[in-house]
Amino acid sequence: MKDNFSEQQFAIIPTVVSGNQETVIVDFLKTAKELLRQARTLEDTQDAWQKVNALEALSKKFRLSKDVQLDATELRIRIERRLGEMLNKKNKNGEGDIKNHNQNSVKVDLDSEDSKSIPLNLNLTKNDLSKFQELASSPQKVFEAVITDLRTEAAIKKQTALSTTGILRAIRNEHKKDSEPLFSPIIKPSDNWNFSTVQYGRIDEQLGEYRGYIPGEIYANCFWYYVKPGDLVISPMAGSGQVLRVYEARQEWMGQHVYDFKLKMFDLTPRGKYKDLITQHDLTKSFPVENPDYIVMDIPYYGMVAQQYSNKPEDLANMALEDWQVAMGAIAKNCAVAQRSGTLCTVISSNYRDVAKELIVMVTDIIRALWESAGYTLYDKAYSSRRIQQNQTPQMARMNNHAKANRIMLTDITEILTFRRV
Ligand SMILES: C[S@@+](CC[C@H](N)C(=O)[O-])C[C@H]1O[C@@H](n2cnc3c(N)ncnc32)[C@H](O)[C@@H]1O
Repeated sequence: MKDNFSEQQFAIIPTVVSGNQETVIVDFLKTAKELLRQARTLEDTQDAWQKVNALEALSKKFRLSKDVQLDATELRIRIERRLGEMLNKKNKNGEGDIKNHNQNSVKVDLDSEDSKSIPLNLNLTKNDLSKFQELASSPQKVFEAVITDLRTEAAIKKQTALSTTGILRAIRNEHKKDSEPLFSPIIKPSDNWNFSTVQYGRIDEQLGEYRGYIPGEIYANCFWYYVKPGDLVISPMAGSGQVLRVYEARQEWMGQHVYDFKLKMFDLTPRGKYKDLITQHDLTKSFPVENPDYIVMDIPYYGMVAQQYSNKPEDLANMALEDWQVAMGAIAKNCAVAQRSGTLCTVISSNYRDVAKELIVMVTDIIRALWESAGYTLYDKAYSSRRIQQNQTPQMARMNNHAKANRIMLTDITEILTFRRV
């Protein structure tokens, strides 16, 4: 078989010139495949490599069809993997001596200058051989997936070639993916969205003060669970743009599958470092964009943040309960007019309890009723701690005692209510 192939190999060039190139090379490749199948020794495998290498060069020289060129390259890379396997096995068994039939061969020592070397019949560098060994070290499943993907890509794209280096690069990327966690710990597996340390804290001018600002991690979880690649996402109460900061850092919380979507921000009083990217808009008047796929709204919690964002009367933070309910009703209707059936809208809010006045307002129930009457159904609900007990200051201890004494609980939970447009 081997000798037969060598004779044919000598005859190849005149045949190719005579115009019958493609059929001849295809036949030779078939023979080389059989040769590889039968190869038991390192020398036989090297021999197959040398011949396929020549066929690959000819297929390129005579500009044969892309398929034939790729067949030759793929076979050459498969032989390299086989050579790598053999070398790895020899190294493992400590067999350094393989009979050398070729006086011009290069003696290649893969591990160190002093250790046993593996002589080869080919002019291969140490670098080539270590590439073959790396090819051999990747699991069969990974190698097959990568070679199939890259071959398909090379067949489609003119500029892309199938190569040993390309395959190795893709294999390394696969390994890297395996060592990276699939999902980020920022994304919570349950409806309990509590964050022991906050990575995306308040970003506007008064850093350090958390009142009126959710941890950005809540936005990350909303995006993860409710936003698809390419969606148009609107944050109509974006304030200082925390939502954009979280989107920009998405490679930190999207795990191995990072994707893009379109995010647009609006607010009655834009501020902070993203101010220029936030469009001024009063949400009680209208919805600023048509057909959003997803809306996420970090509303001013009723009764807790008066004068925090502005002193404007149309600022929800500054409204008495009755006006606040009317304004929120108008906002629910504006969202409903803008959204298509099946799309989602998230409203983030806490309940309100005033210990001194012994007053309880179930704000999140009011929101639910308003959204339902505007044309939504409750789709999902998650909870997040406002972490009010995190720092046990004397002031907090006094508030806790006051709450217990008056039998009115403090509000620690933020509800993340997601509605689906009917
Ligand atoms: C809880 S804050 C949002 C903070 C935001 N997450 C951030 O990163 O800064 C609520 C926001 O609602 C805005 N707001 C209040 N009334 C509004 C209205 N009528 N229309 C639009 N935005 C309003 C406030 O200006 C404030 O920025």
